[in-house]
Amino acid sequence: MASAARGLRWALGPLGLCWALGPAAATNIVLLLMDDMGWGDLGAFGEPSKETPNLDQMAAEGMLFLDFYTASPLCSPSRAALLTGRLPVRNGFYTTNGHARNAYTPQDIVGGIPDSELLLPELLKKAGYTNKIIGKWHLGHRPQFHPLKHGFDEWFGSPNCHFGPYNSTERPNIPIYRDWEMVGRYYEDFKIDLKTGEANLTQLYLQEALDFISKQQASQQPFFLYWAIDATHAPVYASKQFLGTSQRGLYGDAVREIDDSVGKILKHLQQLGISENTFVFFTSDNGAALISAPKQGGSNGPFLCGKQTTFEGGMREPAIAWWPGHIPAGGVSHQLGSVMDLFSTSLSLAGLQPPSDRQIDGIDLLPVILQGKLIDRPIFYYRGNELMAVRAGLYKAHYWTWSNSWEEHGKTAVLQESKLVLQGAGRKGKLALEMFFMLCLGANSTQIK
Ligand SMILES: *[C@@H]1O[C@H](CO)[C@@H](O)[C@H](O)[C@H]1NC(C)=O
Ligand SMILES: *[C@@H]1O[C@H](CO)[C@@H](O)[C@H](O)[C@H]1NC(C)=O
Repeated sequence: MASAARGLRWALGPLGLCWALGPAAATNIVLLLMDDMGWGDLGAFGEPSKETPNLDQMAAEGMLFLDFYTASPLCSPSRAALLTGRLPVRNGFYTTNGHARNAYTPQDIVGGIPDSELLLPELLKKAGYTNKIIGKWHLGHRPQFHPLKHGFDEWFGSPNCHFGPYNSTERPNIPIYRDWEMVGRYYEDFKIDLKTGEANLTQLYLQEALDFISKQQASQQPFFLYWAIDATHAPVYASKQFLGTSQRGLYGDAVREIDDSVGKILKHLQQLGISENTFVFFTSDNGAALISAPKQGGSNGPFLCGKQTTFEGGMREPAIAWWPGHIPAGGVSHQLGSVMDLFSTSLSLAGLQPPSDRQIDGIDLLPVILQGKLIDRPIFYYRGNELMAVRAGLYKAHYWTWSNSWEEHGKTAVLQESKLVLQGAGRKGKLALEMFFMLCLGANSTQIK
């Protein structure tokens, strides 16, 4: 019987595969989410140093999305949107205590993902998936917000950014968790050398991913791996073997190590023989942080502004889908996509319906990916609870431009120790204008005096 089925499979080509295997096995899902990586950081997107051979290869074997967006130009709300398929104004990830500011950042904040939200891993569990998050969670650091309370089965990583070092008495360093247990803290147990930029975290996160994939393959269980690493978020870091290897400085070293790691993850899937049964998507949480550029921030290619703004540079993300045997190699899509679509697309891959008791903003991209369709839909650009812009088809209308309150501009400027001579700026209006140019022009900001 088995050999008859096998014969059928050979006779029919890929279509016969399901017959040979019996019921179609659930497709594994790997989401590779970068931190503050810009649209222009990959060779495939035109970065001139072309230092991302593995990601460029991934694009050549899969599909490049040129018009792919985040749901918010900040880490926390963007991640909340990805995992709920909903805009931050719906899933609660905004605040109104400043002009449309909206991040759950360490350590002063107390909020997090509400229990009423249904996260992708909670839903995938119903289809028998084992779910792992590696890296940055950022949806709340208090116990009720722990990722294992929101559908993940395993976690290795941190609730927040690797800011610091802090002193451990008044303000502790950010912790790292393995599942429920805190296993150490940044700087103390997981070293980041701020002078040299050396840290081994990307290697640890890579090894975690490879081990998890091997374990799942051995147990024949479908899996969802959410690889949310943060080497490209300032303070950027790389391990010793990558330090000094990029033409783009330390930021480029971090990108090169990530590129190498993605190559190893894809190769691992191939070597285990599960690449045709694993959907992989690479993207970033928001645009490059131009305020950290050029040493600690990336490139948004030709686009205006960056992180924290709803201009293209803050919202448009590098995006690549990879699924050998399913996605035709070398594809390029102009579909208006969103990180929220990864929620709906993943459910579709698992054979699940999106929840019907709430508004879901993501759409299923499988018709785009597998049949090259273009689905008409608008993209909304929020900052906090303020609608800033909307895009439909070729048109993007800005209702409002990026702006904080005058008071907040003053505070931000001092905190960020800008290269500009902001402290001496007499009038707040001038200060705000300079902040705006600095955020938008990044590397060139020193020329504005
Ligand atoms: C920790 O930092 C706080 C705030 O800067 C300072 O007041 C305190 O003295 C420091 N404590 C130690 C033990 O260094
Ligand atoms: C990284 O790991 C290597 C090898 O274990 C070790 O020698 C080095 O000190 C580590 N670096 C940091 C910054 O932790």
